[in-house]
Amino acid sequence: MGKIKIVDRIQEMLYELEVRSIMWTDFYTLHPHDMMSKVRKVMQRNRNTLVPIVLDKKLIGTLTIDNYIKWLNSKEKDKPVTRYMNVDSVTLHPQEPVISALRKMSDSKSIRVAVVEPESNELVGVICRCNLFEDILTQFDIVYKDEQVRHYRASHIFEDVQADAVNISLLFHVADTPMEFGGEIASSIRTALQNLGVNSDMIRRAGIASYEAEMNLLAYAGGGEFQVDVNPKHIKIVISDRGPGIPDVKQAMEPGYSTAPDWVRELGFGAGMGLNNIDDCSDIFKIRSEVGVGTKLVIVIDLEEP
Ligand SMILES: Nc1ncnc2c1ncn2[C@@H]1O[C@H](COP(=O)(O)OP(=O)(O)OP(=O)(O)O)[C@@H](O)[C@H]1O
Ligand SMILES: [Mg+2]
Repeated sequence: MGKIKIVDRIQEMLYELEVRSIMWTDFYTLHPHDMMSKVRKVMQRNRNTLVPIVLDKKLIGTLTIDNYIKWLNSKEKDKPVTRYMNVDSVTLHPQEPVISALRKMSDSKSIRVAVVEPESNELVGVICRCNLFEDILTQFDIVYKDEQVRHYRASHIFEDVQADAVNISLLFHVADTPMEFGGEIASSIRTALQNLGVNSDMIRRAGIASYEAEMNLLAYAGGGEFQVDVNPKHIKIVISDRGPGIPDVKQAMEPGYSTAPDWVRELGFGAGMGLNNIDDCSDIFKIRSEVGVGTKLVIVIDLEEP
């Protein structure tokens, strides 16, 4: 495999892998009533200096080595952990793609981050930057082997259907959910394409394009719709929204151009590369937008050799 191809595949896999596949789930936590003198033991046991503070399975704060040193330096008597914990640290959610975890960790300069279920705030894991690449590479190895097996016995659903024409249509509504919970539709599209026996390279391209478009719907348009049509010739994805529209599409397509507001940038987005990534993944990419009416993207990924 050529160097460029390997880099492409690693990038694609970062979109595909979910945080839950690389997070650690086996660790000790502390209760809000626990005292600071307990922290060191938990850090030692966990071999990790992030200590989640948990009440009824829910994350209510985190303690790091910095908080612990602060307490030691203060020479105060023992105090409850709640006095020293952080309550507004960045968290990840288990279904989030690893690429977004990397962006958030780098933006917030966090080394260790807790993973919580989006709505319940239930703690389900932790991620540590120091082991991240080892954990990701292990997952790559598993995914790669799985793919080879799948490739070997790939069942092409279309070949089993006798008809003059076959077309499978999928419709997804993207609700106006917070951006940190995005990525669900892209993940469902990937799973559907996998189940249809579509070639894994095409699935990755469709996955990346869908993820970027889904994030734009959440960042700028307050949700929208995905219409996915799969037939033996191609995958066609039409994404439409009734958002504010894009005043100058040519400018929006320029690499690095972004109007992302601060709240979007704080989540690690806003590099102005989403539409370009979609274009790179598509054989045909069209974008039409009208201010005050909405935006429509058409993405076609060929399945047949030309
Ligand atoms: N669905 C949309 N509705 C309205 N404006 C949009 C929409 N999608 C993109 N835009 C506009 O186009 C710009 C470029 O989008 P693009 O996805 O390329 O970059 P970004 O979202 O700013 O950053 P990145 O995707 O790299 O995190 C956005 O900043 C925004 O102004
Ligand atoms: Mg974008």
